[in-house]
Amino acid sequence: MEFYLKASLKTSADPAAGREEIAKIMAEAEKGILEKGAPVGEGAKIKSWELGDSWIDVELTSGRYVRVHDAVMRLKKALAENLGKSQKIGIRGIEAETFTITVPSDRDLKNKKIPYVKSVEFKDGQLILTLEVGEAEMRNQVPDRILTLIEDKLEQGGYGAKAEHWNLLWESGDKELLYTNDPTEDMLKKGWLKRGSSRGQWIHGSVTTRLFRMFEQIVFDEILKPLGYDEMIFPKMVMWDVWKHSGHAKGIYPEIYYVCPPKTRDPEYWEDVIDYYKVTHEVPVEMLKDKIGDPIGGMCYAQCPPAWGFFQGETIATESLPILIFDRSGTSHRYESGGIHGIERVDEFHRIELVWLGTKEQVVEITQKLHERYMHIFNDLLDLKWRKAWVTPWFMAQEGIAGIAADEVTGTTDYEAPLPYRGPEGEWLEFQNVSINGDKYPNGFNVKSQSGEKLWSGCSGVGLERWTAVFLAQHGLDPEKWPPEIQKRFGGMPKQVKFL
Ligand code: SER
Ligand code: ZN
Repeated sequence: MEFYLKASLKTSADPAAGREEIAKIMAEAEKGILEKGAPVGEGAKIKSWELGDSWIDVELTSGRYVRVHDAVMRLKKALAENLGKSQKIGIRGIEAETFTITVPSDRDLKNKKIPYVKSVEFKDGQLILTLEVGEAEMRNQVPDRILTLIEDKLEQGGYGAKAEHWNLLWESGDKELLYTNDPTEDMLKKGWLKRGSSRGQWIHGSVTTRLFRMFEQIVFDEILKPLGYDEMIFPKMVMWDVWKHSGHAKGIYPEIYYVCPPKTRDPEYWEDVIDYYKVTHEVPVEMLKDKIGDPIGGMCYAQCPPAWGFFQGETIATESLPILIFDRSGTSHRYESGGIHGIERVDEFHRIELVWLGTKEQVVEITQKLHERYMHIFNDLLDLKWRKAWVTPWFMAQEGIAGIAADEVTGTTDYEAPLPYRGPEGEWLEFQNVSINGDKYPNGFNVKSQSGEKLWSGCSGVGLERWTAVFLAQHGLDPEKWPPEIQKRFGGMPKQVKFL
C-alpha cells in the first residue's frame, strides 16, 4: 500500500532566497519530522523537490505511517517557521497536484463513485485511486477515510464476506411440534388479521391484538416490573443527527422509510395539488416530489438510538445508575426484502425495546438477569423449542459490518425458533435479541458518569410479530391447544367481526 503526493506549497515571495534553508529542512526531514511517531525507517519519504518563482514543489511517498497528507502539513509548518523568520516568506497554502493511493487487490472496484476520487484503475494486482483533494480535505483526514472505505469494500467483497457470524450458545430440548401450517395463512382464513395497504403491513383484528397485548403483559409481569424498568417514550421519527451518532448513517439507507416535510404549509402553495386531486381523483405524486423538502431522516428503525438524545452530553449521577428503561410507544419500520411474507417478516412492526445503562459490571449483570427471565418465559410459559446464538452485534450489522466485536463481552445474542411449516430443516426465525453494546452509545452520544468510570449500555428488542409468529407456528391457532398458563393469560377469544 502506497500513498503518493505531488504538492505545491504556495509562497508569498520567490523562495529562491531561502534555498539553503529549504534544502536543509528537506534533507533532515526523513529522519526527523517525517518519521516522528512512525517505526524507524517507515515515515514518509521525499522523492524530489524543486523551487518555482512562487511555490515549492515536493513529491512525497509513504506507507501507513506519517501518510503523505500528514507529511506535507509537517513540511509546511517547518518551512513556514524557518522562511518566515529568516526571509519573511510565508506559505499561503498547499495544492495537491497529484494524489494517489495504491492498494493491493485481487479485483477491480468498477463503477464505484467515491467522493474525492477522480478515478480508480486496476492494474497488476493493484488498485490505483487518484484523488482530487484540497488542503482542507487533507487536513481533515479524507484520504485516510477513503483508504478505510476501500479496505472495507475489499474485505467485505472477499471470501466469506457478509456471512453473518453465528455461534450456538444454548438450545432447548427437542419437542414434538404437531401443528405444521403457516399460521399467517390460517389467521387470514379465520379473519384474525388483514393485509394493510402498505407493503409488509398488517391490520390486526381483535385476536392478534389480544395476543400482542398478552405478550406485552408477560414482559411487564415477568421482566419489566420485577427488574425495575421504567417506561419512557422514544421519538419515532429519527433525524440524521441521531443516526450519525448511532452509526446507522453508515449503512441503513436501503432499508429506511424516509421522512420528508412539506416545503411550506401555506395552503396556497398546495392549491394546485389539491385541485389536481379533486379533478382527477389521482394523487399527483410527481407534483408532490417538487413540493416536499429533502428527507430530514427516517421512521424509527432500531428503536433505541433516539432515546440517547435524552442523555446526550450529560453526566449521570452515580445514584441514578444503572438506568433501566423501555419504550413501547410506537412502530418500527424497515423496507424489507421484496415478495409477500407473513407476519414473520414485515415492514411495520411492534416491539418493546429495553435499554440499560451503567458501568460495565452493572450492564453485564443486568444482561445476565434478563437472559434468565427470558429463559423462564420461553421455557415455562410459552413452551417453545428455541435456541440462543452469538451473532454479529446488531449495531455492526446495521452499519454494514460483518464479524464480531473485539472483546468477548460486547455483542448480540439472537433468540431463534424453528417454524415447523418450513419443514424439519427449515428456517429458524430470530424472534428477539439481547445485546451488550459496550461503550459504543455512551461514546457516540457523549454520556459520562459522575465517577468518571466508563459507561456501557445494553438493549433488547422484543418483537411482538415475531413472538406471535413463533408461538403460533409451534402451537397452532386453537387456544385450547396452547400451554395452560398462556390460555389463562390470554383470557379467551375476543369478539370478532363477522363479514357477510
Ligand atoms: N435495537 C436493537 C435492534 O435493532 C434491539 O431492538 O436490533
Ligand atoms: Zn436497541
